[in-house]
Amino acid sequence: MARYHILVLNGPNLGHLGQRQPEIYGRQGMDAVPGLVRALLGPQADEVALTFDQKNGEGQLIDRLEQARADGVHGVVLNAGAYTHTSLALADCLAWIGVPAVEVHVSNVWARPEAVRHESHMARCVVGVIAGFGIDSYALGVAALVRHLHKTSTT
Ligand code: DQA
Repeated sequence: MARYHILVLNGPNLGHLGQRQPEIYGRQGMDAVPGLVRALLGPQADEVALTFDQKNGEGQLIDRLEQARADGVHGVVLNAGAYTHTSLALADCLAWIGVPAVEVHVSNVWARPEAVRHESHMARCVVGVIAGFGIDSYALGVAALVRHLHKTSTT
């Protein structure tokens, strides 16, 4: 039985990774992530159960995070897309649900020209941030979260 249940949650416009602006976001889709996690974690991958979801709406993302809390999910890997830079409501949700989260981005948001992408409302509510590694950002986020959960687990 898996020890860590992790939700990998994507926000708006992240339902078509691999097709959306491949020059920025790459040609691989979310279907590559389980294999990348296994390659990174090795046998420890057996301890991890991943659930994937994607919502375009801000309220839908909040509902999904509240559901994760109710389900007893151990951690969340969150790419909130553009809501990263705008959503106080999503940050407020992360602040209260008590589920450790890692913020991920496919692109290196700080290397992009739009200054608005350099700000994150999520960042102060998460364990850490991973950005710029393409689809690997998700697998790195899962690995970082598992390590964090391992270090902080009391059992
Ligand atoms: C993104 C970066 C955001 O600025 C953008 O709005 C996205 C994707 C990324 O994964 O690089 O939708 O979160």
